[in-house]
Amino acid sequence: MTTVEIEAWLREDDPVRLEELWAWADRVRREHVGDEVHLRGLVEISNYCVRSCAYCGLRAGNRRLTRYRMTAEEVLACARQAVAYGYGTVVLQSGEDYGMTRDWLADLIRRIKAETTLAVTLSLGERPEADLAAWREAGADRYLLRFETSDRALYDRLHPPRPGQARSDRLALLDRLRELGYEVGSGVMIGIPGQTYASLARDVALFRELDLDMVGVGPWIAHPQTPLGGKSRVTGRESRVATEQARAWLPGLPQWEQVPNTEEMTYKVIALTRIVCPEANIPSTTALATVNQASGRELALARGANVVMPNLTPPRYQALYEIYPGKACLAETAEAGHRRLLEQIRRLGRTVGKGSGSRRKRASVFLRDT
Ligand code: 5AD
Ligand code: SF4
Repeated sequence: MTTVEIEAWLREDDPVRLEELWAWADRVRREHVGDEVHLRGLVEISNYCVRSCAYCGLRAGNRRLTRYRMTAEEVLACARQAVAYGYGTVVLQSGEDYGMTRDWLADLIRRIKAETTLAVTLSLGERPEADLAAWREAGADRYLLRFETSDRALYDRLHPPRPGQARSDRLALLDRLRELGYEVGSGVMIGIPGQTYASLARDVALFRELDLDMVGVGPWIAHPQTPLGGKSRVTGRESRVATEQARAWLPGLPQWEQVPNTEEMTYKVIALTRIVCPEANIPSTTALATVNQASGRELALARGANVVMPNLTPPRYQALYEIYPGKACLAETAEAGHRRLLEQIRRLGRTVGKGSGSRRKRASVFLRDT
């Protein structure tokens, strides 16, 4: 599929054609990654962040947020919970928090790997290479770092460099992660102000070029304590541009170029991602479940996704990990959420994934045999 064709699909709104797209993505998903839905227990280990991303509620400048950092024992308890629920992976996520030191985290990774058979995924921002290397050495298996947009000028607007530091280059960092031996995941937000159809089509093409093992996408959700600001969720078809405040902040984009941050647009990107990256692990994300609490998760699984990341963070911390308002997972206890998830997977005629759900199964079998 060419970038031009991807863009044409992004602009498609004929319901019959879209049904074809959903069915195509579902077929590719079944043929390449099968019916298993892999479950990854998400632990939001710290909400401190040195960055100032224009969209995110954890940005350093948000003084209204109470900050927390979990203890190693608390994180280990969550990892044990992941094992108890039968999950194959624990995902440790945080803002870019240098209060969480290289050695502290390396030690924690070693303890999780010694005590469990879980795969460990990290999602901790743009840390220095020495940190990434030490964590890999300690046993971390995968790293998630969204490049957010392939439009460099928009990226710089949304993601200013830290004071006194060079502008970041997440694409270069993704290469380094791969060289260090991590399985690598990335992704973008859908409908971030300033995102054009052409740039989103290039993002999807870039997923394929980067040969990503995991691709996560979710709708941008306005957070009032950020420069993009605005009221909470905007999901209707009519809302071409998300908030007045965002429009004022990023002037000049014609309305017909702005990608809407809708649920439907997110499904289109999930489906197209499955078609261009047939073997990737693609999660049905929490942001999507937030804009459609009733069926967002299931629809994504039926339109290309094959992974769910249930939130195992203790509720008192979960509420403070507010990258956007109204996070879906807070509506229920972990236990109730777990049972509902198993029921959803059963209803879809799918099965819960066994083992760690790594993309590179063949490679690891090969390594063991030789
Ligand atoms: N709405 C949706 N997604 C967001 N993220 C950060 N802020 C928001 C928001 N307001 C996403 C970014 C980041 C990931 C951890 O969460 O893509 O990489
Ligand atoms: Fe920090 Fe990540 Fe939020 Fe940016 S998106 S402010 S790096 S937590």
